Amino acid sequence: MKLSQDTIQEIQNRIEIEEVVSDFVSLKRKGQNLWACCPFHQEKSPSFSVSPAKGIFKCFGCGKAGDAITFVMEIEALNYVEALKFLAGKYSIEIEEEEQTDEQQAAHNEKESLHIVLGFAARYFQDILRKHPEGKSIGYSYFKQRGFSDQVIEKFGLGYSLEEWDGLMKAAKAEGFSEELLEKAGLVIRKDDKQNGDRFYDRFRGRVIFPIHTVSGKPIAFGARILKQEKTKSGKAGARLPGPKYLNSPETAVYHKSDVLYGISQAKQAIRQHENCYLVEGYTDVISLHLCGVENVVASSGTSLTDGQIQLIGRYAKQITVLFDGDPAGLKASLRGIDMILASGLHVKVVVFPEGEDPDSYSQKLGSTAFQEYLQKEAQDFLKFKTALYAKEAANDPIRKAETVKEVVASIAKIPDPIERAVYLKECSSLLQISEELLVKELNQLHRKKLAKEAGVKQLSPPPEEETPSRPVLEKATTVDESLQLQERESIRLLLNYGFSQIEENFQLHDYLLQEIEELEFQTPIYKAILQQFKDRLAQGQVVDAQFFIREGAPELREEVAGLIVEKYDLSNVWTERHNIHIPREEDVLDKAVFQNVVRLKFRTIQKLIGQNLQKLKEASEEEDMLEFMQVHQSLKNAEMELAKLLGIVVSK
Ligand code: CTP
Ligand code: MN
Repeated sequence: MKLSQDTIQEIQNRIEIEEVVSDFVSLKRKGQNLWACCPFHQEKSPSFSVSPAKGIFKCFGCGKAGDAITFVMEIEALNYVEALKFLAGKYSIEIEEEEQTDEQQAAHNEKESLHIVLGFAARYFQDILRKHPEGKSIGYSYFKQRGFSDQVIEKFGLGYSLEEWDGLMKAAKAEGFSEELLEKAGLVIRKDDKQNGDRFYDRFRGRVIFPIHTVSGKPIAFGARILKQEKTKSGKAGARLPGPKYLNSPETAVYHKSDVLYGISQAKQAIRQHENCYLVEGYTDVISLHLCGVENVVASSGTSLTDGQIQLIGRYAKQITVLFDGDPAGLKASLRGIDMILASGLHVKVVVFPEGEDPDSYSQKLGSTAFQEYLQKEAQDFLKFKTALYAKEAANDPIRKAETVKEVVASIAKIPDPIERAVYLKECSSLLQISEELLVKELNQLHRKKLAKEAGVKQLSPPPEEETPSRPVLEKATTVDESLQLQERESIRLLLNYGFSQIEENFQLHDYLLQEIEELEFQTPIYKAILQQFKDRLAQGQVVDAQFFIREGAPELREEVAGLIVEKYDLSNVWTERHNIHIPREEDVLDKAVFQNVVRLKFRTIQKLIGQNLQKLKEASEEEDMLEFMQVHQSLKNAEMELAKLLGIVVSK
């Protein structure tokens, strides 16, 4: 779907960045800007600023910056169009859609039809469970026997499919749904028959039904658990099942397994509130946790967790707690998958259950209170858990110990934040009783391998296609660069106009200014050139002023310098004469002017250096380099603070 230009325009006109941001974090005003702790990284003191005047946000801690739309894209994990729709919703702006091509329209219509037929099927299964004699006696009583309450059956829309070949199909056709649509929705299966024409039959028969919902609660697929047990020869129910225990919908135009999490719709609010999401294996675990009053829980349903699923959770919380069955063999295999969560920047905790128990069985065993306590008490940091697990096994075995180091470091390497990595290196070094240095070495090796691999891949892949070209690019650096340039200009202006004025006894302005900026290198070529000539001439004992450059300077310098001396004759004279207001003349406050200039120049230079250093930190591949850049960052930030104090500016820590 495409939004019309008018709609986009209206949304952009209505957005107030502080209103948008304050739905997610609480902002406090300091000066012209609003401040908060950054929602994109962990921090204790606020470095996240919002400028209502400019309509942008910027975090001085993690460097994230952008406008209201980018903010929504980031925080809600939406694409550009989705973010616009989100904002349209917030401001109650009616969405006008652009004309679509026939194909787009058809695809859109097909998805709409799928949603409708899936919604119908979900209601049908629910009705059967509640009202049909077979549904009640088999499906409903099964759920009851599992301890599911009526509320939870309702909340998850649980249902039952009759033990018939066409229970759903008959009902759906009576409502006007075609067999083809039912097939596209994954609800019926087509059986090729050349002679009599294709035949269709229900996919789910004689099973309890777990609908799978989108984030917003629309059913898009179903999981179905078998109930019947195969009869043995003696006629008694045996242990073998006639068919797979669980049947699931296939992938369809509206169901992409890898982007969906079971229970997300019922969990999202609780996940946000608790800032944590429990991750379990399947349907029954999710429901059992709800029965115990734990609602911030989702399941990846059979498959191992995908990036899409992790991002989905990341929209709501930055921490995932993985609940593991108490099965030592399966445990290690599952641990590998968790590295993916680390790589996405989320924090990971784990809870392990006693052997033979899964979250479903164990929660039923303990009951709400004890189970919730168990989750609280047993949750431990994933990396420490993994390290301890391996360390115990490798205690007296040097070869296993080497493997252990590799395993643990491989996980640490996945963490995107260098500061967090450093903390883990320290902790794991003490847990493993291995020097931090050795771990760092191992980590560097991994980084190098990864870079080499990426370099290899890049050469092969075609240049990336541009995404959403309509999106304006936000330049981050301009403000610092522009301010720096202004201050360089001011230094030159002061030097050329007042360089030889006394600011103290026997102390001329140039003495002070040149001494203070001795270690700075001007960024703007023209000011750099003027400064150099000024210094050179001065060293030869010449007096250099604006006149000198206008007479003898290169043409491009002349023009610039001419511009600078115009400002000498500032408005103060005019004001004094015309309005009889006294404004101190610049000559009288030179000491203040040059001091302000020096401090500002240093302040802006430091900010530029901070930016450059952060860039290096981002690009660094060696842990040692990263640690060094982090130290540099800290000392630059301290310097920035000191200068800011002199200027009376508040900066973030
Ligand atoms: N699961 C699945 N496919 C299977 C087996 C299990 O998708 N073939 C998922 C289901 O989501 C299920 C979860 O794993 O809820 C737990 O598996 P299991 O305990 O075997 O299923 P239950 O329905 O709880 O069966 P039981 O009563 O035997 O514990
Ligand atoms: Mn089970």
